[in-house]
Amino acid sequence: MRFTVAIDGPAAAGKGTVSRAIAERFGFAHLDTGLLYRAVGAKVLAGADPVAAARDLRPEDLEAGDLRTQAVAEAASKVAAIPQVRAALVDFQRSFARREGGAVLDGRDIGTVICPEAEVKLFITASAKERARRRWLELREKGADVTLEQVLAEVEARDARDRERATAPLEIAPDAVVIDTSEMDIEQAVAAAAAHVEQRLKATKEGSET
Ligand code: CDP
Ligand code: CDP
Repeated sequence: MRFTVAIDGPAAAGKGTVSRAIAERFGFAHLDTGLLYRAVGAKVLAGADPVAAARDLRPEDLEAGDLRTQAVAEAASKVAAIPQVRAALVDFQRSFARREGGAVLDGRDIGTVICPEAEVKLFITASAKERARRRWLELREKGADVTLEQVLAEVEARDARDRERATAPLEIAPDAVVIDTSEMDIEQAVAAAAAHVEQRLKATKEGSET
């Protein structure tokens, strides 16, 4: 069975958390596409050329060092605006999406550009203030010396860059379901997302039986 769940949304909305839970519940594979851009961003911070880094990206690069820092996030959103960088990462994401057994991909352009034919498209969002609070708690947990105001500024600057770029900007696909998690805990967000997947899976199975 091929079945793609596309999850997009702004920074720290809970895309990864919801994607992992959906993958586990339905037995799908999961790809955090932000990690691809973060890995390229980390290479650029180390002196590499962004387009060459994207073309040469290898699986082990996704596990190299701490890619979840603010510096790497900022570098990721800058390389993500370069069309040749995005182009170099398309085939890998598309083949992951159509793998046998189902796949969840989360990012910014999954439902709009990478998998416009995805069976389920979700746009997970929350207020900038709430998203910054969540990311700040995570960074603090890791021992990062950063204020909530700094995280809010970083998240808003990155969202603006992601929304305003010419190639594959962050936008809501016309057929995506928007889930605003500002007032939801993780369990509620996962339940809302899972209900859509469940419904579509059922419809797909019924369709293939007739
Ligand atoms: O992948 P994305 O950047 O969209 O977000 P994430 O890494 O899944 O979530 C960011 C943080 O928010 C994590 O620490 C989650 O545990 C937390 N979170 C939350 O507090 N409430 C939610 N409804 C969803 C996520
Ligand atoms: O975890 P968080 O939501 O903060 O960021 P991420 O999903 O790891 O993505 C980091 C950056 O990569 C984003 O700010 C985007 O600029 C870029 N990105 C993208 O352009 N397209 C994707 N499909 C995924 C990430």
